[in-house]
Amino acid sequence: MKVTLVSRSGREFLKGDIELSDSATVADLQQKIHKRTQKYYPSRQRLTLPVKPGPKEKPVVLHYKKSLKDYTDGNSDNLTVVFKDLGPQVYYRTLFFFEYLGPLIIYPLFYYFPQVYNLLGYTGERVIHPVQTYAMYYWSFHYFKRIVETFFVHRFSHATSPLSNVFRNSAYYWAFAAYISYKVNHPLYTPVGELQMKIGFGFGLLCQVANLYCHILLRNLRTTNGVKGYQIPRGFLFNYITCANYTTEILQWIGFNIATQLVAGYVFVAVGCCFMTNWALAKHRRLNKLFDGKEGRPKYPRRWILLPPLL
Ligand SMILES: NC(=O)c1ccc[n+]([C@@H]2O[C@H](COP(=O)([O-])OP(=O)(O)OC[C@H]3O[C@@H](n4cnc5c(N)ncnc54)[C@H](OP(=O)(O)O)[C@@H]3O)[C@@H](O)[C@H]2O)c1
Repeated sequence: MKVTLVSRSGREFLKGDIELSDSATVADLQQKIHKRTQKYYPSRQRLTLPVKPGPKEKPVVLHYKKSLKDYTDGNSDNLTVVFKDLGPQVYYRTLFFFEYLGPLIIYPLFYYFPQVYNLLGYTGERVIHPVQTYAMYYWSFHYFKRIVETFFVHRFSHATSPLSNVFRNSAYYWAFAAYISYKVNHPLYTPVGELQMKIGFGFGLLCQVANLYCHILLRNLRTTNGVKGYQIPRGFLFNYITCANYTTEILQWIGFNIATQLVAGYVFVAVGCCFMTNWALAKHRRLNKLFDGKEGRPKYPRRWILLPPLL
């Protein structure tokens, strides 16, 4: 069969058609494109069918495992495919690793090198409050846990993400790590009472363990009988909340904030909450759509989305 590759504007993208066997898959086509262009490796390619005229028509994305024949109108030996360059890609694990490595390194710097405050004009002897030490361990444990989960727990459905996300997401995490650590370890920081500190860190640690358990439950959704894709999360808090992993994530930051009591920490949790609310709404919608109770599909149970009793 012959495949004509065009750009989104409809112009010929590669000179001449690509010849493939009748049993070729989309992955075979991607390999051929890579071989011809050298530059566009498969995960950089987004291949779609040309959009049919109509206001609400969305492009059909070609799945790498499917046969090209599945996208022709039955007996056609020619197929026109629209090519889009997704830009340089990195593995999801690489993206998450760099996001979380920054906070793991940056936060302790302000704790271990208080000279930075002298450079900024603060004089006098430094007194380390217990809450500052515990906060440093709590923070480091959290990001260490995230890195471990990235490599040993999560089963991502998307292999890669655009390289630009590494810089954008890292800027977010690294900047907040510096901002919060700077404030918590500041010589003029005023600690909260011992009881409040213990309640905050104790509650936060419980939520971190609950968050790990939520991630293990999500992981197990994709192990049983080689099942892939999205399943209905069940068990523990997932029986009541769609994104229980985000709920426990938010609660563990609230625990950290109860113990450290700083505006910087509350700003961080508020910004994180905005992102997670958007993602949780999208995940809830997707699960309701996938599991609509029609044609033998299970019906997604009634659940809170993120933060009962508000959402
Ligand atoms: N503080 C913050 O601002 C912040 C922000 C974001 C994340 N986080 C933390 O990082 C963790 C990971 O974030 P994330 O956004 O990647 O979480 P996520 O989308 O909820 O997913 C975690 C893993 O579970 C999989 N998964 C989710 N729902 C599933 C379902 N219904 N069926 C099968 N698999 C499913 C995901 O697969 P896919 O690859 O298919 O999505 C992913 O591999 C969060 O839980 C949170 O602890 C924190």
